Amino acid sequence: MKALILVGGFGTRLRPLTLSVPKPLVEFANKPMILHQIEALKAIGVTEVVLAINYQPEVMLNFLKEFEARLGITITCSQEIEPLGTAGPIALARDKLIDGSGDPFFVLNSDVISEYRLKEMIEFHKTHGGEASIMVTKVDEPSKYGVVVMDESTGQVERFVEKPKLFVGNKINAGIYLLNPSVLDHIELRPTSIEKKVFPKIADQKKLYAMVLPGFWMDIGQPKDYISGLRLYLESLKKKASPKLASGSNIIGNVLVDESAKIGEGCLIGPDVAIGPCCVVESGVRLSRCTLMRGVRIKNHACISSCIIGWHSTVGQWARIENMSILGEDVHVGDEIYSNGGVVLPHKEIKSSILKPRIVL
Ligand code: GDD
Ligand code: MG
Repeated sequence: MKALILVGGFGTRLRPLTLSVPKPLVEFANKPMILHQIEALKAIGVTEVVLAINYQPEVMLNFLKEFEARLGITITCSQEIEPLGTAGPIALARDKLIDGSGDPFFVLNSDVISEYRLKEMIEFHKTHGGEASIMVTKVDEPSKYGVVVMDESTGQVERFVEKPKLFVGNKINAGIYLLNPSVLDHIELRPTSIEKKVFPKIADQKKLYAMVLPGFWMDIGQPKDYISGLRLYLESLKKKASPKLASGSNIIGNVLVDESAKIGEGCLIGPDVAIGPCCVVESGVRLSRCTLMRGVRIKNHACISSCIIGWHSTVGQWARIENMSILGEDVHVGDEIYSNGGVVLPHKEIKSSILKPRIVL
């Protein structure tokens, strides 16, 4: 089976992290976002993944070459000259996706994290006889997603409305699709939105079916959702009794610590923390609901909550960094600094406190 992952878009909502690496390579729970998807695809027998990309393909491919061998999966790129939206790239990759077998193929948004349940989706797709299956999930704030109105018993989609202004329903498109090759007949090779143009049309023809995703789901393309997504992801590891979760008297709730990270005396860590490779957390540090990317150093007695600290940044002693502060790569926060929601661009030095949420250029 084959799959296409939509990896275009500039990831602007996840700046400043995406100023350093393309969004799909930003680590989530100590692993690049896109690897969560590639591993889920591999686990259900996908042999070839096509990355639909519109900038920096070399960065992505160089990075993924290592995993191609390790996972035993073929990863190729389909590069657009101009951004083709969420449907155009599928037409562009037509020859890579269709091999004459008539098998359906997966299409995934690159920024969703969930228990993918792809095997169940294949079973669902076989039973309904339509052209396309989409995974849906319930959310409290549907207006920033594609909303699906469906027949609860059969799953048949009656309406698909992308980012509705008025309330239509609370089941939303989870960004995970299984499409028959015939869907390509509805897609032209030009910039097109699958959500605005293709799905509404297939729904009108009563050939679009939706399956409610059992388990957690989150689009982690914005900092606030990234931080909530980590909580859900770690909770799912906990339910599976995953040995990856840290334990010990200094750990509260669900925490991931890379084996190369060093944690000092008297720290209190958790809940919902991911500490990346080569991080150094000195003594007496308090961390909760945060991610430390590779190579971060947190000095003595700093306190970090609801934050993302970018690669190789340092936080000074007694500093307090909180409320969705996002530090880009190689940011250095001085001793005793306070940051309330500061979003700091890469390579900056912070010498005075950030009292209100703002971007530091
Ligand atoms: N190759 C390519 N080219 N990929 C693109 C392009 C493009 O021009 N534009 C966007 N993408 C990719 C993004 O990288 C992402 O993986 C996916 O398409 C969806 O784009 P987002 O920008 O993340 O869309 P969204 O989050 O506002 O909405 C989408 O996802 C929601 C679920 O997370 C829609 O599919 C909604 O219907 C859905 O509910
Ligand atoms: Mg998104």
